[in-house]
Amino acid sequence: MEFTNVPRSDLETSLHKVTYKAIYTPSFMVYTNPKQNKKVSMYREFFGLKEKPFNVTSDPDFLFLSRVHKEALSHLTYGIKERKGFLEITGEIGAGKTTLCRALLNQLDANTKTAFILNSTLPEMQLLEAIVEDFGITVERKNKVSILKQFNNFLLEEATRGNNVVLIIDEAQNIKPGMLEEIRMLSNLETDKTKLLQIVLVGQPELKNRLASPSLKQLRQRIGVRFHITPLSRQEVPEYINHRLRVAGSNGMIHFTDDAIGSIFKYSGGIPRLINVVCDKALLSAYVMETSEISFGIVERSIREIEGVMGNEHNTGSAEKSGELESANVGS
Ligand SMILES: Nc1ncnc2c1ncn2[C@@H]1O[C@H](COP(=O)(O)OP(=O)(O)OP(=O)(O)O)[C@@H](O)[C@H]1O
Ligand SMILES: [Mg+2]
Repeated sequence: MEFTNVPRSDLETSLHKVTYKAIYTPSFMVYTNPKQNKKVSMYREFFGLKEKPFNVTSDPDFLFLSRVHKEALSHLTYGIKERKGFLEITGEIGAGKTTLCRALLNQLDANTKTAFILNSTLPEMQLLEAIVEDFGITVERKNKVSILKQFNNFLLEEATRGNNVVLIIDEAQNIKPGMLEEIRMLSNLETDKTKLLQIVLVGQPELKNRLASPSLKQLRQRIGVRFHITPLSRQEVPEYINHRLRVAGSNGMIHFTDDAIGSIFKYSGGIPRLINVVCDKALLSAYVMETSEISFGIVERSIREIEGVMGNEHNTGSAEKSGELESANVGS
């Protein structure tokens, strides 16, 4: 079933080449061995890339504006500009929420003061402190009343300057209802005409359930914009892959066949993080096999490796062969 597009003899030749690489880079040394960098740069060099195209970090430079990501971004910019108070953005795990927030932060103008909280599991006081400090406020006294007073003064100052203030809280599904209620209180300061603070709650689908709690009725009623980020469509998957390749500096030499794309879509369900994991693995395999055509066989094998169900056929000859593939992919 696997390697359907790869002739056995080619496979053996490429695995033979792998053996040589593996001998000099044992898998258990990959993360600390200085040769790792060399290998990563060889991988990039082979494909003529300036950086790795399928990292799993939330790097906004790689943002691909799929239909839903575009819509989500316009909902966010609209909600912030129109001062809608609370905005709720949900999406499946790995759908691109954090990447989108970072892209949004890059787009907002200098008259919008922002704070971006990534660690929503902090205890109440620390979360409060983290919020105000991210706005650039130096906490004078570490007690709640004093911090809230400082924050209110900050909001008023910004309002007199005609500025907008935006707090983005990522992973908001982790925030306990009591803390969400505290956050609502932060937003209480408003003039007769306008809200001084816009709060964007970003989270996995559980956020919706959390906000459905009866104790959060007041907060729920204040949500002015809601958007759910769905996965990419089948048609968007190759566009996404090619976009990321282009940003990474590819000259179009790398080609994913249509059935390879089909396999990636089936495995990932259109979730960008899963697409990245498969594509990264597939590119590494392709590098090892010295091909720039990513076939169905390469993708299927990558998926099986990710799932940890590699059959014996891959391990024939040398344990290091698969070690090379495994470790280089994860560590690079
Ligand atoms: N629209 C997009 N354009 C480019 N890359 C994307 C896009 N959406 C997601 N990705 C990539 O997918 C990976 C996961 O994205 P991200 O971390 O933003 O997801 P998330 O929804 O915040 O995940 P989690 O639910 O785990 O917090 C990252 O590598 C990111 O760069
Ligand atoms: Mg995230």
